[in-house]
Amino acid sequence: MQAYRFNSFGSLDELQVREEPDPQPQRGEVLVRVHAVSLNFRDIAILRGRYPRKAVPGLIPVSDAAGEVVAVGEGVAAFKVGDRVISAFHPRWFGGEMPSTIQSDSYGAESDGWLCELKAISQEAVVRLPDALSYEEGSTLPCAGLTAWTALAGPTPIRAGHSVLVLGSGGVSLFALQLARAVGAQVIATTSSAAKVDQLKALGAAEVVNYADDPQWGKAVRALTGGRGVDRVVEVGGPGTIAQSLRAVALGGEIASIGFLSTENPGIDFFQLKGSGASFRNITVGDRAGLLEFTRAVAATGLKPVIDRVFAFDEAREAFSHLESGAHLGKVVIRVVR
Ligand SMILES: NC(=O)c1ccc[n+]([C@@H]2O[C@H](COP(=O)([O-])OP(=O)(O)OC[C@H]3O[C@@H](n4cnc5c(N)ncnc54)[C@H](OP(=O)(O)O)[C@@H]3O)[C@@H](O)[C@H]2O)c1
Repeated sequence: MQAYRFNSFGSLDELQVREEPDPQPQRGEVLVRVHAVSLNFRDIAILRGRYPRKAVPGLIPVSDAAGEVVAVGEGVAAFKVGDRVISAFHPRWFGGEMPSTIQSDSYGAESDGWLCELKAISQEAVVRLPDALSYEEGSTLPCAGLTAWTALAGPTPIRAGHSVLVLGSGGVSLFALQLARAVGAQVIATTSSAAKVDQLKALGAAEVVNYADDPQWGKAVRALTGGRGVDRVVEVGGPGTIAQSLRAVALGGEIASIGFLSTENPGIDFFQLKGSGASFRNITVGDRAGLLEFTRAVAATGLKPVIDRVFAFDEAREAFSHLESGAHLGKVVIRVVR
């Protein structure tokens, strides 16, 4: 089979494809022919040394994939040859407390990921791909989709009448926009791109604020809610956006802390944090039980992931560059089968 590996980090030239032996499924494992993978900002963060956790070079990158089971090992009852599956972002976090292996299991950072033609993996580390989705669409669910689901679904689920703020037009934010609309919540989106405003509105955003034009965008968002603030902020910006998110959030609302897209880090004002009256919940994608709930919600609502562009397997570097450019709206996918 062919597989990509990062020989070292820092340059996309170090992402190289090579011929490797086909993996064989062991007891309890399925062999997946990977059809598509999708990229997340973490794949760029790992490349650029911006990932906040340990990352070792030499591994197959990318956490999110969809494919077809082509063989099963001894004792596999959950799947059969021909089943369509997607990867679980955390292969051994099934529910409850996070396992101690959460870091060493991290695809592309400490263990081999999915940018390859075949992968042998525990039957517990994949779930069924919803029937209505293509492999390309399915490959977008494991990280961005589940993270948005976790941010909105619990422990206080977003429902009709709530308001949700999503930052920028990347993968997590667009899934949050779609999921919030699916339950009848109002969505306010931000973007730095005038060209993306109409697309965000067409996807269901009631209002769009340009955060590049208005550094006080948190205040502008609050004004759009009649001064009350939003019930939930899907916070993907991190250190450079948290102050404005605290301005935008309602008393008793919640900041779902997800990302670190911003490069500046001016620090947090304790009194602003306390005075916001909001709670702050840290999110680490989600567990397998959450992924099952999320895929059921996708099937029930007919949600179609927003794919910006699909690249071919031999265009993997171009796909990484495109994601890094920030020109995308939604997900960047690589079709692995040729
Ligand atoms: N903790 C977790 O569980 C978890 C899970 C998934 C992702 N994440 C993190 O969440 C973040 C988003 O991931 P992603 O894969 O969705 O990213 P992505 O698709 O690469 O999103 C990029 C988009 O975000 C917007 N953006 C960039 N810098 C921004 C800033 N300073 N303020 C507001 N928006 C900004 C831009 O949109 P416009 O062009 O519209 O301005 C850009 O196009 C990343 O930091 C990622 O590592 C964390």
